[in-house]
Amino acid sequence: MLVINPKRVNEEVEDKPYWYNYYAGYSHSFAKNIIDSSDLTESSIILDPWNGAGTTTLMSSVSGFRSVGIDLNPVMKVIAKAKQATTREAAHINSKLQTLSNVRLRKTKENDPLCFWFNTSGVLAIRKIEYWILGRARHNSMLDKVESLSIEQCLLYTALFNCVREYLKSFIPSNPTWIKKPKSDDDKIDLDWKSLKTRYTFLVAEMLKAFSTQTHIWPSDRASLLTASSVSMPLPDECIDLVLSSPPYCTRIDYGIATLPELAIMSDLSTSTIEDVRRSLMGTTTVSKGPISWDSSNFGNMCTQFLNDVREHSSKSSATYYYKNILKYFIDLNSSLAEIYRVMKPESSFVCVVQDSFYKDVHCDLPTILTEIALMSGMKFDQRHDFESKQNMANLNSKSRNYRKKSIAHESVLIFHK
Ligand SMILES: C[S@@+](CC[C@H](N)C(=O)[O-])C[C@H]1O[C@@H](n2cnc3c(N)ncnc32)[C@H](O)[C@@H]1O
Repeated sequence: MLVINPKRVNEEVEDKPYWYNYYAGYSHSFAKNIIDSSDLTESSIILDPWNGAGTTTLMSSVSGFRSVGIDLNPVMKVIAKAKQATTREAAHINSKLQTLSNVRLRKTKENDPLCFWFNTSGVLAIRKIEYWILGRARHNSMLDKVESLSIEQCLLYTALFNCVREYLKSFIPSNPTWIKKPKSDDDKIDLDWKSLKTRYTFLVAEMLKAFSTQTHIWPSDRASLLTASSVSMPLPDECIDLVLSSPPYCTRIDYGIATLPELAIMSDLSTSTIEDVRRSLMGTTTVSKGPISWDSSNFGNMCTQFLNDVREHSSKSSATYYYKNILKYFIDLNSSLAEIYRVMKPESSFVCVVQDSFYKDVHCDLPTILTEIALMSGMKFDQRHDFESKQNMANLNSKSRNYRKKSIAHESVLIFHK
């Protein structure tokens, strides 16, 4: 298998990486090299159980393979599905854009979560674009809506995500996984329909430029994208030929907050839906009430030691909130690895990109922890490649520097087989 540094630098294999700047992804070149150098046949299926912005599923389609991309955050499905667009969708979108001036929508709902950041005319302008994307369809829930979307609609939504993010720039601090809220109504973004429409049309046109260099076309069902959890995947046993993925980081990155603007756009206008998504994701900063039961014998020495070090740390809330939060992460990681093993065909490979991190001054050697858990789930170890990573998720939290100097993160590519 050809393993290059997973870091995202020059993405020369595709233009679509730039369609959505996902801080948590590995490079498209890395994924393509792994896929093309794996021993796959025409009927092989590739799985990414933490598919994010869909790097694995896009590069599987480009290389001519069927794939399954699973992510629990419905927003990620929209972005990953947009990346499945081919010249077929581009032609439709070009003609649909001509109708953008004729949208009739006069008011928005009072409890619209976009009101956090935008004034009334801004919310109306954004909802007008959404109304135009959806046509006459109405949906009962966010999941319903996401399920109903065509590839073309997903591309148009992704352009809207990027457009809204541009307007939100002043609320997004250097940590891309956080977003501020205005202090008062006067600080809300004042946006009118004409400006939004102009900017949005420009961004869609920019996305369509990807098709002037990439003319490939594939069946629209080549990638199957599912909103589901890695801890219980809706897949039969032994159906997957290659698993290529990167699990959520163990750095208390809140993947829900990181996509708050996108969730607000997609939401069924209830903040509880957004909160539910946030709470369900691995690595969430929220913790559930009550004790968590777990069986330490499945976790391996390194993980058990790390959990003990966290619990015994002298800093505030280490033994309570932080311990519980990190324990939940490892329980989910454990169940996910068992699930990955279950769906892998005998002899198939699991390629996994992981970063180490710190809890205060305690090192979390996630590559070794994950290796120990994978071996206990039945997998066999093949290779480990370590790279230094500039994009260090452990340094995102500025308070971490009270405990240690800025650290160099290591990104490891781990390869196992069944
Ligand atoms: C490190 S990112 C994956 C990045 C991806 N490989 C890419 O290149 O875009 C981890 C992803 O796991 C997702 N996630 C978190 N908990 C999950 C769960 N229980 N099941 C499935 N996906 C989950 C997050 O929404 C996030 O998109």
